[in-house]
Amino acid sequence: MREYDVVLIGGSIYAGKLQRKVVSFCEKNRGALLQRRVGVFLCCLYQGEEALMQLQSAFPDWLLAHAFARALPGGEVHYDRLTFLDRLLVRSLPHPPGDLLRMRPEAMDELAAAVKSLP
Ligand SMILES: Cc1cc2nc3c(=O)[nH]c(=O)nc-3n(C[C@H](O)[C@H](O)[C@H](O)COP(=O)(O)O)c2cc1C
Repeated sequence: MREYDVVLIGGSIYAGKLQRKVVSFCEKNRGALLQRRVGVFLCCLYQGEEALMQLQSAFPDWLLAHAFARALPGGEVHYDRLTFLDRLLVRSLPHPPGDLLRMRPEAMDELAAAVKSLP
């Protein structure tokens, strides 16, 4: 990571949790990340305030306090690609089972613009 000035870290939410490997990457590299510009993004189906709350509980507080940008580009669920267990879990999401297409690519454009405008 030493050669990068800006680091963007992202993942997706499954049953309220961010991927463990993303969380452990953040913890393992805490010192280096605090010396760099960091942006975070989270893919999830919830939107608005609920999505923001998921982002806030997914990433460590120290990283969110340090981040110059936070993006919520939405999410997608392709029902025919899910495992049986995942299908059961998805039933509890705010929509009946089926493909759920809620990407907001403009959120990533905004993140890219935030990177470009860094001093
Ligand atoms: C089993 C399962 C559980 C999920 N749980 C949540 C959730 O708790 N909250 C949410 O907002 N989205 C949830 N989602 C939606 C995912 O975050 C979304 O599909 C995302 O785009 C997945 O990205 P990925 O395919 O890159 O991992 C869930 C999706 C699946 C399949």
